[in-house]
Amino acid sequence: MMTNQQTIDLWKKSVIPSYTPRLVLTKGKGAKVWDANGKVYLDFLAGISVVNVGHCHPHVVDAIKTQAETLMHVSNIFYNENQARLAEKLSGLSLRGKCFFCNSGAEANEALIKLARLRGHDKGRYEVISMRNSFHGRTLATAAATGQTKVQKGFEPMPEGFVLAEFNDLDSVKAAVNEKTAAVLVEAVQGEGGVVPAETDFMKGLRALCTEKDILLLCDEVQCGLGRTGHWFGYQASVVTPDAFSLAKSLGGGFPIGAIVTNQKVADVFQPGTHASTFGGTPLACAAALAVIQVIEVDRLVERAGILGASFMQDLEKLVDKYGHLKEVRGKGLMVGLELDQPARPLVDIMLEMGLIALDTAQNVVRFLPPLTLKESELEEAVDIIDEACEQWHSDLGDAPVAAAGASRAAGDEGTAPAADDHPAEGDEDDLSFPEEEEEEDLAIPDEESADQEG
Ligand SMILES: Cc1ncc(COP(=O)(O)O)c(C=O)c1O
Repeated sequence: MMTNQQTIDLWKKSVIPSYTPRLVLTKGKGAKVWDANGKVYLDFLAGISVVNVGHCHPHVVDAIKTQAETLMHVSNIFYNENQARLAEKLSGLSLRGKCFFCNSGAEANEALIKLARLRGHDKGRYEVISMRNSFHGRTLATAAATGQTKVQKGFEPMPEGFVLAEFNDLDSVKAAVNEKTAAVLVEAVQGEGGVVPAETDFMKGLRALCTEKDILLLCDEVQCGLGRTGHWFGYQASVVTPDAFSLAKSLGGGFPIGAIVTNQKVADVFQPGTHASTFGGTPLACAAALAVIQVIEVDRLVERAGILGASFMQDLEKLVDKYGHLKEVRGKGLMVGLELDQPARPLVDIMLEMGLIALDTAQNVVRFLPPLTLKESELEEAVDIIDEACEQWHSDLGDAPVAAAGASRAAGDEGTAPAADDHPAEGDEDDLSFPEEEEEEDLAIPDEESADQEG
């Protein structure tokens, strides 16, 4: 195996530099990852909400191995059982309609947009209203739908037919609706946008508006879907049902797969020849996804995300009271944001050095997306690291850690930690049917060794 430095050198020489990777990672198990020097990290990013069932979950690994030895790929001009079973499963968990499969989040959102356009075509309806600060992908259409100019800069002119409205502001969406509107596209929790949950009244208002105007309500569940928020799908927090939604990231547990799920009303908008994907829904990808869903069900990870997320957010609230530069904790389940009054990158860098992987987003928010299989002891270790990192960060800033007297923050509304009993199902972690393997080694929180990252 190459050393960290050899990999970095080869990467820089050979890979188009559209990323600035932070570490060379070589192994993962559960909520931990290792680099080539054997340094271990607690992964509170999980591939940005990809490995919700933890790294290399044995059940998912087995399913992939078994299917790889049987049949990896068939063209979609042939039936495949796994695809049919996965479509039935996803529909049964949500809208009771049908599914289309692809390979990524951007492709899934592209399919939602195409579905809305095709449905509206004869009436001249093609515009999609999306939200400011949203993120929907990097294809031209999904970048155009994304409410952040940084993903569009340099690629103009963007495709037409995309209109922005303010997130959590129903009047702003109403003002954007016209005779050309085909759909409204929204994340139940904006991830890239700084971990901001949609308010229940906003989602209910969108549903009523879309129904009244015969517009499709589309949800982007790519980051917040599949148990992450303490619900199977993020939109379920507001008891609102979209007409269709997109999935990707965690669906394959690390194996690439994307999907859209529709209700019955729009299930047959795509007819033969209207949309397609060579790799969409292969037997192998669907085997991985079926195994992921089984793990989520058997290990009751939806409830677990709600319970652990509430506990995590309560712990972070205490740190907000303790450290002056921490402003607010918000999120749903194990999709958690910590807002600072400063850029978040320096704090994220300190955490990384201390052995905890998180991500800065929207400039001043630290985003935490740990695997839903996280152990309570790992959560405690992470909170200790965050505490220690905040102390060092405050000292680097030349400030005392302790917030001004009486600066205790109120719990806030929608976006803040739900009480543990908001999640009635018991997530007893001792009662899991997929037993954890023996721990290979204890989590070592490195003291001096610096994380191996690009500047
Ligand atoms: C909400 C959301 N939608 C879409 C995407 C795009 O997914 P992909 O990178 O798989 O194309 C992302 C990726 O971060 C996302 O967070």
